[in-house]
Amino acid sequence: MPIPMLTLEEQRETAPPSGTGPQKEQAVQRMFSSIARYYDLNNTLLSLGLHHSWKRKAVELMARESVKLVLDAGAGTADLALLAARHLGAKARIVAADLNRPMLAIGVEKVRKATLQRQIVCVQANAEHLSAPNATFDAVTTGFCMRNVADLPRALQEIRRVLKPGGRLICLEFSRPVAGWLRRLYDWYSFTLLPWIGTRVSGDTTGVYRYLPASIRSFPDQDGLARLLREIGFEKVKYHNLSGGIVAIHVAVK
Ligand SMILES: C[S@@+](CC[C@H](N)C(=O)[O-])C[C@H]1O[C@@H](n2cnc3c(N)ncnc32)[C@H](O)[C@@H]1O
Repeated sequence: MPIPMLTLEEQRETAPPSGTGPQKEQAVQRMFSSIARYYDLNNTLLSLGLHHSWKRKAVELMARESVKLVLDAGAGTADLALLAARHLGAKARIVAADLNRPMLAIGVEKVRKATLQRQIVCVQANAEHLSAPNATFDAVTTGFCMRNVADLPRALQEIRRVLKPGGRLICLEFSRPVAGWLRRLYDWYSFTLLPWIGTRVSGDTTGVYRYLPASIRSFPDQDGLARLLREIGFEKVKYHNLSGGIVAIHVAVK
């Protein structure tokens, strides 16, 4: 079966809106509803299993003795919440929040199977408008969600609002490979092979696996995101490149 090569023009045409606002939110939610059942499988296939170690690293960076209440924003199928609950132990509580019900439903089932319902509560919530009071959480984790929100500065402000003073944001996101050769290889992979595999496995018709590389390109790179976090008011902003910068974890303190 030949792998279809899409021109940049075609990719732009099929990709959902990458701007801001309700149009993007609706398109993104349609996409996640369409692929929720296949999300975990495709994540493992498309990242060659690497997403597990990226998530473990994020949780290691988040974990501190003092961390008792964590928000996982854009929790999806609850991978980070489950890792956080196991890493932090029985006294910690994790709120796994996501806008998308089908994604959350899978998360709820995984939490139940892991018998971690006492530690993890899954809630439908928009990262841009959280109902938690100011200064609620010791830490906020977010994995591969910030690229998908309709208004990135708004979501980061909201996360900062619900963090306690001194609390930390751990943001795991796709970023920009550092080496030129890796960037070229990754561009080829993400614009050709990845949409082909992802779409075939999930039977998706919403264009989510073409949106994925497009959304990565339009998201701020490592330094751009660090700058934005500082502008929002975060301090001690640092980032860690993983897998040569294919993903980065930003750590920022309120
Ligand atoms: C790529 S998935 C990541 C899921 C999970 N964190 C992981 O690492 O596997 C992105 C998730 O962000 C969620 N999302 C997008 N915009 C959101 C928003 N404004 N508020 C909350 N969740 C949002 C989507 O519904 C989706 O479940």
